[in-house]
Amino acid sequence: MRVLFTGGAGKAGRHAVPYLVAQGHRILNVDLVPLEADGVDNRLADITDAGQMHDVMQSYAGYDELEPGTGQPRFDAVVHFAAVPRLLMRPDNVCYHTNVMGTYNVIDAALKAGIRKIIFASSETTYGVCFADGEVRPDYVPIDEDHPTVPEDAYAMSKVVNEVTAKSLQRRSGADIYGLRINNVIEPHEYKANFPAYMANPDLRRRNIFAYIDARDLGHMVDCCLRTDGLGYQVFNVSNDDCSVNLTTGEIIARYYEDVPVREEMGPHDTFYSSAKAKRLLGYAPRHHWRMYLDDPRMA
Ligand SMILES: NC(=O)c1ccc[n+]([C@@H]2O[C@H](COP(=O)([O-])OP(=O)(O)OC[C@H]3O[C@@H](n4cnc5c(N)ncnc54)[C@H](O)[C@@H]3O)[C@@H](O)[C@H]2O)c1
Repeated sequence: MRVLFTGGAGKAGRHAVPYLVAQGHRILNVDLVPLEADGVDNRLADITDAGQMHDVMQSYAGYDELEPGTGQPRFDAVVHFAAVPRLLMRPDNVCYHTNVMGTYNVIDAALKAGIRKIIFASSETTYGVCFADGEVRPDYVPIDEDHPTVPEDAYAMSKVVNEVTAKSLQRRSGADIYGLRINNVIEPHEYKANFPAYMANPDLRRRNIFAYIDARDLGHMVDCCLRTDGLGYQVFNVSNDDCSVNLTTGEIIARYYEDVPVREEMGPHDTFYSSAKAKRLLGYAPRHHWRMYLDDPRMA
């Protein structure tokens, strides 16, 4: 497919985009900075500028597309990852404005350009646990997409607003718009760099509900969304299958979730952040587990 991908130069995009190229998709990365990767075209543009978004949605990806002499081809899909990706990076109002107006501009421009498949990055933070002031526990575990989304902070709030925006724009257009409630993104080098600390101190993962998502598996999830049509508006949790700490689920429940309802029987390493819906509707099948990447046998 011919895909316009916003934010492809970032932490998640620089792994997800090459994955999509390897699956045969053509990618135009729209970002403030370029992604230097094989097979990727870049357009430097700002998602908060509606005019720029209308322009890029109806543009050539590269010089080769001038050759047929048949005009600008239409993008088959938009994947929207560009954002201020957490709190405490920029002032709260800048984060909120960039994410909310950026997402409105991208989805609105895509639909008005006739694009019928849009995938956008939402976040685990919508569930209100990650960036809470103090400890907030889930209403139940494993968390699925029916869990309430009432966060306290400007970043997570922007993602909840984006979901409402997307749902309304889907209702008017009838296009397929899928939101990904992405858990904490882990790049390949971060297993060795970060996980030993998570083993030593599992408290570090409490705010992520002990889950994570390998950046390459996130690319696979996007590909699943590109390949699956006809679902209308949907949100999907995205995580790997295991927990990011070296405790069993029973030990985690005893230590952190004693008063939290456990809604289903869980295996010893099962995630508390359920991707069951994505597996059921999209065929999502993550391949990576942190235990594949650490040498210390005590952690296997
Ligand atoms: N990293 C995570 O753990 C995580 C978890 C959940 C959700 N997400 C979401 O996934 C998406 C990607 O996150 P990431 O970690 O790769 O973030 P990142 O900051 O590494 O990448 C974001 C990209 O967006 C671009 N960008 C920012 N403002 C822009 C603007 N105004 N116009 C155009 N481009 C702009 C940046 O240049 C950057 O390349 C974001 O929407 C984020 O909120 C990330």
